[in-house]
Amino acid sequence: MADTPIHAAPAPAAPEGELSIRTLAMPADTNQNGDIFGGWLLSQMDLAGSIYAYKTTQSRNVTVAIEAMTFRKPVYVGDVVSVYATTVRVGRTSITVHVAAWVQRRNESKSILVTDGNYTYVAVDDSGHPQTIRQGSSSVSA
Ligand SMILES: CC(C)(COP(=O)(O)OP(=O)(O)OC[C@H]1O[C@@H](n2cnc3c(N)ncnc32)[C@H](O)[C@@H]1OP(=O)(O)O)[C@@H](O)C(=O)NCCC(=O)NCCS
Repeated sequence: MADTPIHAAPAPAAPEGELSIRTLAMPADTNQNGDIFGGWLLSQMDLAGSIYAYKTTQSRNVTVAIEAMTFRKPVYVGDVVSVYATTVRVGRTSITVHVAAWVQRRNESKSILVTDGNYTYVAVDDSGHPQTIRQGSSSVSA
């Protein structure tokens, strides 16, 4: 039986897009079973997507939706977690970013795609209201 859900897009052979965050999975990030907590990984991915989105919005942005998440493989303590981002769509006030977390396990050289999904961010003003993304501020390369 395949170990990847049939509805998940096949994993690319190598990371695609821009490296946004790299960090180390620590014991403090584990769940009750001793594995890395999915919420921690989602948080790292949200931070990575937000940093990437800022390059386009050039303003505060807030996460409005997280979609199409696929948890493909577990993350273990000691894994080096690298999160990559690519632009899916830029709207009037929002940007959707494909965020992919890859890990390099201890004593292994290859990287493995563990989780990916689409994060949508809305550019907001100081009052938290949506604001138009300025044309020309985009660093979209995807
Ligand atoms: C994000 C927020 C400012 C949007 O306010 P709103 O009044 O719903 O704004 P709009 O309806 O004008 O939508 C703004 C943009 O978000 C997009 N959007 C809204 N809901 C969406 C959803 N569920 N999925 C994808 N995009 C969505 C709209 O399509 C629009 O994009 P566009 O301008 O590029 O076409 C508001 O919902 C909010 O503050 N949410 C809480 C955000 C937050 O706290 N995030 C952290 C969670 S821990």
